[in-house]
Amino acid sequence: MAESMKGLKRTCRCAELGEANVGEEVTIMGWVQKQRNKGGIIFVDVRDRSGILQVIFEDGEIDVEGFAKAEKLRSEFVVAVTGTVTKRSGAVNENLVTGAIEVRAKSVRVLSESETPPFPIEADSKTKEELRLKFRYLDLRRPDLQNNLIMRSRVTTLIRQFLAEEGFLEIETPILTKSTPEGARDYLVPSRVHPGTFYALPQSPQLFKQLLMCSGYDRYFQVARCFRDEDLRAHRQPEFTQVDMELSFVDEDEVMDVNERLLQRVFKEILDVDIALPIQRMTWQEAMDRFGSDKPDLRFGMELHDVSEVVKECGFGVFTGALENGGSVRGINAAGQGAMPRKKIDALVKFAKDFGAKGLAYIAIGEDGSFKSSFAKFMTEEEMRNLVEAMGGKSGDLLLFAADSNKIVYDVLGNLRLEIAKNLDLLDEDEYRFLWVTEFPEFEYSEEQGRYVAMHHPFTMPVEEDIPLLKTNPEKVRARAYDIVLNGVEIGGGSIRIHQNDVQETMFEALGFTKEKAQEQFGFLLDAFKYGVPPHAGLAYGLDRLIMLMAKQDSIRNVIAFPKIKDASCLMTDAPNTVDEKQLEELCLTIQKNEE
Ligand code: AMO
Ligand code: AMP
Repeated sequence: MAESMKGLKRTCRCAELGEANVGEEVTIMGWVQKQRNKGGIIFVDVRDRSGILQVIFEDGEIDVEGFAKAEKLRSEFVVAVTGTVTKRSGAVNENLVTGAIEVRAKSVRVLSESETPPFPIEADSKTKEELRLKFRYLDLRRPDLQNNLIMRSRVTTLIRQFLAEEGFLEIETPILTKSTPEGARDYLVPSRVHPGTFYALPQSPQLFKQLLMCSGYDRYFQVARCFRDEDLRAHRQPEFTQVDMELSFVDEDEVMDVNERLLQRVFKEILDVDIALPIQRMTWQEAMDRFGSDKPDLRFGMELHDVSEVVKECGFGVFTGALENGGSVRGINAAGQGAMPRKKIDALVKFAKDFGAKGLAYIAIGEDGSFKSSFAKFMTEEEMRNLVEAMGGKSGDLLLFAADSNKIVYDVLGNLRLEIAKNLDLLDEDEYRFLWVTEFPEFEYSEEQGRYVAMHHPFTMPVEEDIPLLKTNPEKVRARAYDIVLNGVEIGGGSIRIHQNDVQETMFEALGFTKEKAQEQFGFLLDAFKYGVPPHAGLAYGLDRLIMLMAKQDSIRNVIAFPKIKDASCLMTDAPNTVDEKQLEELCLTIQKNEE
C-alpha cells in the first residue's frame, strides 16, 4: 500500500551526506537498491540520483510497525526514511561515496511498491540494450546514464552562461517550418487547415538564424532540436540537439576564437581538462592527404604516404593501372607490425574491401630486413627498396597500400588507420585532441542526383579567389567552411555565409537551381538580403556528440534520455505508429496499401 508524503519533507539527497553530518537527523527519499535481512537487523541500500546510502533498521530501535515494513521492502520500492546519521558500525565501504556512514532508521514510509524489474538497476549493466531501451525509464535509473544526463545538463547550462556573457541572445526558431536544406531528407508534418500541404521539421535553424542577422540581433544562439530523416550511421540520431550560433560582422578568426574559449571553459569546469589555445587548424586537403579523413583523429600518427610517383613505372599492374585511371597509390606504415600473423592481415584486407578497396597490398619487413609481400613478384628489388624507403619502412614494420581513385584510397586508408589504432590500443581515452578543418570543397558531386550538391550548405561563402570558378570549375571551389573535430569525431561545423545576392545567385546556378526554383524555395531569404544584410557567419555543435566524448561513451544513445534505434523507431513508445482513420480524414490523407 502506497503511503503519502503528508507532513514529511526530504532534507537532502542520499549521497549528499558524509561524516560531517554524523549526529544529524535526516529524511531521505529514494529507491531500494537492495534489502538484506539478518534477523533482528535489516540493511537497506537506498538510491537516488546522487548515489546510494546504507540504512539500518534494528528491531527495538525502530517500532514494530516500522520494522515490519522494512522486512517487506524489495528492490525498487520507493521509501522515505527518517533517522540519524552515524559512523558505519561495520567496515567502511570504499566503493560508496557514503561508505563511512549509515543512517539508523527511526521511521519509514513506503511511498510506492514495485514489481520485480526486468533487469537489475546497476552500473555497467550486462543487459542487452534492446531490453533496456524498451524499459528506458528503468535504464535511466542506472548511475551511468544518470551521470551522463547530469553532465549534459551541466554542460548546457555552462554553454548558455558563457554565450550570454559573450553577448549572445537566446532566440527560438520554428519547429513547424518550411524545408531547410542540409542535405538530408525532411520529416514532414501534414497541415489540417491547408489540406495537401506540409510543414517540414527543421534540419537546422540555418535560414532563420541568418534572417535574425538581417534583423540586427548580431549574436544569436539556441539549443535547438534538429530533425533529419537519414540513414542512421554511427553517432547519428533522427532528432538531435545542436548548440547553434550565428554572429554578424565577423570573420573565421572571431568565430573560432569565441568557440575555442567556449570549449576551453567547458572542458576545464566539467572535466578539469586544460585545452591549449589556439586549436590547431588544417585545410581539408591536408587532412585528406595526411589522414585520409576530413575528421582526423590526431591522437596517433600512422599518416598516409603518397607513393604514386615512386611506383608510376613499376611492374605491378594494380598500381600503374590505378594511376592511369587518374587515381593514386598511397600507403600507411603500421610500425612494428611486420610480424602480424597472416590471419590478421587477411582481416585487414577484408576490412579494406568493406570500404570499397579491390585489395590491399602489403609488405612485411622482417627483423632481418627481408620482405614478405603480396606483390613482390611483380616488382624489381630496386623498386621494392625505393617503395619501402618512401614509406619510411624499417625492420619489423608492416606497410599497407591501396591503389584506386583518390576518394576510395582516402576512405580505405583513413579507416584502416583507425582500425589498426583500435586493434593496437593506440587511442588514449584521456587525451582530447581538437582540430579545425578548414577550406572544405564547396561542392561534391552526387551520383544519386546527377548534379553538384553543397558539401556544407548552399549559403556557404566560397574562398574569394575561387568565386570565378563557380561557373567554370565548381569542383575546384573551396568553401569558407570549418568543422571542429575532437578525437576523430566531427563535433561541430559552420561557415562564413554568402551575403551578396549576386554570389548567392551564382551559387544556386552552380547547384542547378533555376531562378524560379531558388525563389520558390528560398525567396524569403533572398528577399531579406535586399534590405541590408550584415556579413555574418556561424557554427553549430552536435551537442549529443560533444557530451558523448566528454562522458567517454561510445554511442550518442547513452547521452540522450529517450533515443531512437537504427531504424528510427522508439522501442519504448513504439513510435512511429499508425493513427486513427479519423485523424487521416481530417488531414485529407489516405494510406496507399503496399501490395507486398
Ligand atoms: P551540420 O549539418 O554540420 O551543420 O550540423 C552541425 C553538427 O550537428 C551534428 N549532427 C548530428 N548529430 C547527431 N545526429 C545527427 N543526425 C547529426 N547531424 C549532424 C554534428 C555536426 O557537426 N546549419 C549548419 C551549421 C552552420 O553552418 O552554422 C549545420 O547544421 O556534430
Ligand atoms: P593479385 O595480383 O590480384 O593477387 O593482387 C596482388 C596483391 O595486390 C594482393 O595483396 C591484393 O590484395 C592487392 N591488390 C589488389 N587490388 C589492389 C588495389 N586496388 N589496391 C591495393 N592493393 C590491391
